[in-house]
Amino acid sequence: SFFFRERVKIIQILILFLCVVWEKFSSQSNFDRKMYHYGTFPEGFSWGISSSAYQIEGGWNADGKGPSIWDTFTQTTDSIPDSANGNVACDSYNRLNEDLYMLRALRVKSYRFSLSWSRIFPDGTRKSLNQKGVDYYNRLIDGLIAYNIEPMVTLYHWDLPEALQKVSGWENAAMIDIFNDYCDFCFATFGDRVKFWITINQPQTIAWSGYGLGNMPPNVVDPGYRPYIVAHNLIKAHAKAYHTYDDKYRQVQGGLISIALNADWFEPADVNVVREVVTADRAMQFQLGWFAHPIFKNGDYPDALKWQVGNKSEIQGLPQSRLPSFTEEEKNFIKGTADVFCVNHYTTRVVSYLTAELQPHSYEWDRDLRETDEPDSPTTAIPNQKAVAWGLRRLLNWIKEEYGDPEIYITENGAAVEWDDFERVMFYKAYIDEALKAYDLDGVRLQGYTATAFMDSFEWLHGYKFLFGLHHVDFTNPDRPRTPKYSAHYYYNIIKDNGFPLPDDDKMLYGHFREDFMWRTMLTSCLTVLVWFKSVTNTSSIHTHPYFVFKFHCSLFHTSNCL
Ligand code: BGC
Repeated sequence: SFFFRERVKIIQILILFLCVVWEKFSSQSNFDRKMYHYGTFPEGFSWGISSSAYQIEGGWNADGKGPSIWDTFTQTTDSIPDSANGNVACDSYNRLNEDLYMLRALRVKSYRFSLSWSRIFPDGTRKSLNQKGVDYYNRLIDGLIAYNIEPMVTLYHWDLPEALQKVSGWENAAMIDIFNDYCDFCFATFGDRVKFWITINQPQTIAWSGYGLGNMPPNVVDPGYRPYIVAHNLIKAHAKAYHTYDDKYRQVQGGLISIALNADWFEPADVNVVREVVTADRAMQFQLGWFAHPIFKNGDYPDALKWQVGNKSEIQGLPQSRLPSFTEEEKNFIKGTADVFCVNHYTTRVVSYLTAELQPHSYEWDRDLRETDEPDSPTTAIPNQKAVAWGLRRLLNWIKEEYGDPEIYITENGAAVEWDDFERVMFYKAYIDEALKAYDLDGVRLQGYTATAFMDSFEWLHGYKFLFGLHHVDFTNPDRPRTPKYSAHYYYNIIKDNGFPLPDDDKMLYGHFREDFMWRTMLTSCLTVLVWFKSVTNTSSIHTHPYFVFKFHCSLFHTSNCL
């Protein structure tokens, strides 16, 4: 009928609108997406590097620190390679000056680190305050400020005080107030110097790995229910901490506050098939939108989640959706609770539609899709984490379109490589260049980039097997000596240049050739260069060499006698 046709039309228009980013890049050839782009980032761009407390500090029980769920987990499990733990890690608790020295040498503008909650409040609450823990962070923050490095502070990077896990951790809605009180203390104590706060690191990882897969602490295996409950509490806890900052501290302290959300880029298996593109969008909504939609849009979950989980729950014969819902009041409380968009990004996955099984009930199956590796990109040391630089540009465009053009900070990006640090250099070169394209060509309001990681550290479930550091740490030596890798030098240069300015040699020369200039000769010599380049480099990648492509195009296609 007429109404049906109209509805279909509206849905099609909506889908096209929704999928604007895939549409925009669908005509980009493999050649185009690897092209190198010269340019620089805006003035004042925040170049940073990151770490987190459990990964580097060590001193797991020093000076009154209480245990966290990661202490308990690593000390009792066999599932981490070499039974590794963060008891000593990089020993940053005792090597603060070395860390500060390295940060200064790197000339970063910001340093992203996290506070260990149980170092400050050993039992998770204010009554257990440990002044020595506070002193450590004061020394770190003061040291950074003295070197003109902005502290970018994560309040919670996965290391929940064990005492709070004993009262059910994030499953318990009481955590919202408990977290708020801890944040309130930190704002009051450090906020005179800290102007960039991140409440929670990767809530999606906490909810899914901690309570769905159960491979991370608190190791609860309940893929269909508890991830949704935990996420619900995390979102409310974040919103409450935001309001506390907003109401009590912002006016005097003048900082900003956000949350660091992890996002892969999901590329459809076939960009020309609407259903596949919608599937890719759904994958984005399930991972990033789960948290970003309530916080950056309307206080509520994305439609994709509400429909998928709601419909599945119904077919599964459940009395209500496994996805909890927010009241109107809660929606208003959550909406708009981030000043900037902070995103952690590591890889791109290819997805295709799949009618998933109904059992077991699972967040993963709720998505109705299958994931595979991107076939044409280099691997990194970690399976499933291919280095797909062009995915970052698309992700940034997607965030721009989806969330109303927010200011964006990349708060983590990096790679573990098997042997050769040169591969890490190539990773940064390619990824930062894609970030540059997003800023320079697509108008994404990118304000900062954070390389992960500051130094080789305890990499969670990978222990010390896969390392992300720009500085090498000798974990066999009790002094934990640190040495900059080639990637640190490379990153230093990117920071110094504020990106990739076009080298003087490659700048175009304007002017005229002689009247009788022989263009045919030019073309011949150009082809000669091509043959020569191929023979000396023995590479087929000549086509992607930016210098060559540029000159070749100039030579071939300029028909007038000038450039
Ligand atoms: C975490 C970082 C970690 C990185 C690599 C991210 O998900 O937020 O703490 O270093 O993964 O393992």
